[in-house]
Amino acid sequence: MAEVVIVRSMAAAGGVAADAIEQLVRRNPRAVLGLATGSTPLSTWTALAARNLDLAQVRGFALDEYVGLPAGHPQSYRSVITREVVEPLGLNPELVRVPADSGPLETAGDDYESAITDAGGVDLQILGIGRTGHIGFNEPGSSFASLTRIKTLTQQTRLDNTRFFDSPEQVPMHCITQGLGTILRARHLVLLAFGAAKARALAGAVEGPLTASLPGSAIQLHPRVTVIVDEAAGSDLVHADYYRYAWNNRLEWERI
Ligand code: GLP
Repeated sequence: MAEVVIVRSMAAAGGVAADAIEQLVRRNPRAVLGLATGSTPLSTWTALAARNLDLAQVRGFALDEYVGLPAGHPQSYRSVITREVVEPLGLNPELVRVPADSGPLETAGDDYESAITDAGGVDLQILGIGRTGHIGFNEPGSSFASLTRIKTLTQQTRLDNTRFFDSPEQVPMHCITQGLGTILRARHLVLLAFGAAKARALAGAVEGPLTASLPGSAIQLHPRVTVIVDEAAGSDLVHADYYRYAWNNRLEWERI
């Protein structure tokens, strides 16, 4: 089962996630990170940037990208990753890939899968979760075996992401996303969630039945998952007391 860490604040959560990344990069300066966009990972990037680690050799693969935005659009995930991750952390932009960043769209999914495989696979994948229970842009109904491919966004997700655009119509209808099968190949999953609006999806992902209707529940198939939440996002967890007890009594040598 996932290790669930319930913390008081987003900043504290970012610190726990940054610890996991720091440990990894100290072991392997050429580690491969799975990068997520959205507001959820921001405290992780902030905490990591404050540590002044040398991340110049780290390789990165973004989870997903909109389809149909002009190149350089400020809300394209390429732009977001550059602004919020690559620049503040001092990553080498040439070592950071985003789906469909080169070549024809028709083969972009297969190309991305090959690039991840050629890099040796993702060591640590940062994940947020959408209110529909999606991870990456794998909306309800996504196969647990799915690989990187084009998807149609739900109206709920488009509405949720309207805050980044001037109007709902400007939010693209299509995206390209790593599949659930792609995500499950990463060696360590770190899923973060904050706020009451995420409580239902988060509890479904961690404790609910395995179902394509809640794509985040795929994490239950993974042997190494760390879920980091604030009290509000963790408020629907049935076993919250046990998670706190286990975390507070973890053994010194246990890594995150
Ligand atoms: C988007 C992204 C997801 C992200 C989710 C939650 O749809 N594709 O990767 O996890 O939204 O976003 P936020 O972290 O802003 O709540």
